[in-house]
This record gives sequence, C-alpha cells and structure tokens, in this order.
Amino acid sequence: MSERPQRPLAPRSWLGLLGGGQLGRMFAQAAQALGYRVCVLDPDALGPAAAVADRHLRADYADAAALAELAAQCSAVTTEFENVPAGSLDFLATRGVVSPDGASVAIAQDRITEKAFVRSAGIATAPYAEIGSSDDCRHADARLFPGILKAARLGYDGKGQVRVATSEEAIRAFETLGGVACVLEKCVDLQCEVSVLLARGLDGRCVVWPVARNAHRDGILLTSTVPAEVPSEVVTRVIDDAQAIAKRMSYVGVLCIEFFVLQDGSVCVNEMAPRPHNSGHWTLDASLTSQFEQQARVLAGLPLGDTRALAPAVMLNLLGDLWFTQTNSADSAREPDWARVLGELPAAKLHLYGKALARPGRKMGHLTLVADDAMSARTACGRAIELLGMRA
Ligand SMILES: Nc1ncnc2c1ncn2[C@@H]1O[C@H](COP(=O)(O)OP(=O)(O)O)[C@@H](O)[C@H]1O
Ligand SMILES: [Mg+2]
Repeated sequence: MSERPQRPLAPRSWLGLLGGGQLGRMFAQAAQALGYRVCVLDPDALGPAAAVADRHLRADYADAAALAELAAQCSAVTTEFENVPAGSLDFLATRGVVSPDGASVAIAQDRITEKAFVRSAGIATAPYAEIGSSDDCRHADARLFPGILKAARLGYDGKGQVRVATSEEAIRAFETLGGVACVLEKCVDLQCEVSVLLARGLDGRCVVWPVARNAHRDGILLTSTVPAEVPSEVVTRVIDDAQAIAKRMSYVGVLCIEFFVLQDGSVCVNEMAPRPHNSGHWTLDASLTSQFEQQARVLAGLPLGDTRALAPAVMLNLLGDLWFTQTNSADSAREPDWARVLGELPAAKLHLYGKALARPGRKMGHLTLVADDAMSARTACGRAIELLGMRA
C-alpha cells in the first residue's frame, strides 16, 4: 500500500481483513463476488473467514511483521470486529486506505468512550455511571437500580454483564467481572430494540437500510425483522441520530447502531458496531445490496449500492444449542435437519458459517425467511423454529 492506488480499485486488487469470524467470511464472499481478492489476518487456523479467503496470514492482530505484510499486499484494509487494537488500524492507515479508522473503532470498543461520544452529540443513552472501583458501586445513584453492570470492554452476546438490584450486588458483580472498568446502566423499560444500519463513503455520502427490529434471548440476538413495524416518528428519529453520530465520527464504512425504544416512545442509543452487524444479515437475501457488499464497495471506492428492501424478512440466528436439542448428552452434537426446513419452507435462505464445532450459544449460522408480507415472514419463522425444535 506504499503508493496510493487508483480508486475505485481494479478487480483482482487485494482487500485486507482483520479478524476471521463469520462476519469476515461473508465480507470475503461479497468482495470476491465483485472480483477482489481477500487476505485475512487471523490467529486462528480454522476460522470461518480464512476458509474462504484467498490468503490467510496466521498471526496476532498486533504482530508488526504480519501487519506490514498485510499492508504490502492489500490496497485497502477493513476489520470485522471492534476489538482489534486501534493501534494496528492506525499503523495500517500510514500505509493506505483503512476503514473504519482507528479513532472510530477506539470509540466503539469501549462503552465509556462510546456513551460519552453519543451524549456529546446531544443524543440520549440509558442513564449510566462510570464504575472504576467498589466505592463507585457503593456511591452509585440509587436511581440506576435495578441496573446492569457491564464491562466497558470486550463484551458481546450478553457476556461481561451482570444484572444488579442493589449497590451490594453491584459490588459483588464488579468483583466477579474482575475489577475492570465498567458502566452501571439503569435497566430501562423497553418497548422494543431496533438497529440502524448505514454505510458512509469516503466522500461523506451516507446510505441507510430500512430499520430492523431485534428480539434477544438470554442476551443473544434471536431475530431481526424488517420492516421494523415501529411508528414512523421512531424510524425518523433513530435514522437522524445514527447519521448524526456517523457524521460526527467522520465515519467511513458500514456502521450499525442499536437503539432502545422505550415504553413512552422515546429512544436512546444502546451501542454501536463499527462493522456489519448480526442484525443486518437480512440484507444478504432481502436487500438489493448486502451490508457485506457495501463494506467491500466502501473499501474499494466504488459507488454505494441501493439499500432498499426487496421484501419483508425475518432473520433467525442458528445457535449451537440447536445441535443438542435432539440429544440428551452435552457431548453428542447432531446436525439439525436442514433439508426438512428447506423442504417445507422454500423461501427460507440458509447460511452456515462452516464452524466444525457446535457449542451452546455459539453462532453457527442464520436463516432468513423472506415473504410477500411481514405476517407471512413471521409465520414462516415460527414454523422454522418448530421444525428445528427450538424453544419458541
Ligand atoms: N439498560 C438496559 N435496559 C434494558 N435492557 C438492556 C439494557 N442493556 C442491555 N439490555 C439487554 O441486553 C441486551 C445485550 O446488551 P448489550 O449492551 O447490547 O450487550 P452486547 O454487547 O452483549 O450486545 C440488549 O440488546 C438488551 O436486550
Ligand atoms: Mg448489543
């Protein structure tokens, strides 16, 4: 990347990716469909992205030699998760195009900087306090209880979070979480949760997909539904807020912002992901341009694609638990009967991430139920849940 390449990048150019999970795999597949080659930097030998990439550099995300090699090979580099060292992105940025940039990733990888940033833009978050010690728990504002103590960094899928009803419980939870920096967030009264997915190009042009409504189970995303079927004022509000945040960060790339919609109809930001997001997987099958194709377009300097939804859809996450629903023992996993689901539901689109080992809670794949109307998509999702023997 020593010379700034012509943009848009010519087909067969190399795009670099930090991270090797399913988001990286779907990015690589979309980039390859546009004619690019993908080099993945991931320490894991058997990651889902490395399995489809044109090249795999097996090294740590902070490995200087590997980063230099990635920079030498690739015309532009992106990331599939926010926990890469921001310093690695900063280094790569001295050699070529990097999106998102280290500064945006640094904001999103720490709940404290993230919430402060959102508030500095004049946008609401749930009430919270920064927690750095047991004393902070002891003296926390009583109005924050019942609340959730969340580790500031490295949390995902509900991990690194503990629900706490009192300051004594918060002190214990703080110790359980290892005494790391946390936020204590008030438990807000949710009407629902929605995601705004957007992409912003180097020229500042921003495109937004239709808003999705999310349902979680045990802290993990279960379904995302489009259209979200929330009032139009809510849709306008969250899209405006999301675009304002992206602009304030001078963000370049795909960005997802999760919002809480409260019982009184007001909204607040929950968290953001500086990358494609699980709640945007529906775009693979039901939008003209998927979030992964858009990520490749931004990186390559191609014009952004049309984000309209082609049909109502429900995305259903397929967690490793499904491999154990038919068996009594935790060590005898059995592949779910995909043919049965696809046989009965021809409009269901199956995506599996190629992970060899199923574990409860592990994201193994997803299913998108596409239909002529929202009700039919929901009904099809209910049927898929039944056929797979999932808890309804
Ligand atoms: N302050 C809150 N009030 C009510 N529910 C919450 C709150 N914070 C988190 N949750 C619930 O827990 C889920 C996971 O929390 P989140 O902060 O998004 O963590 P993760 O990084 O694991 O996605 C949310 O999607 C929401 O359903
Ligand atoms: Mg979340």
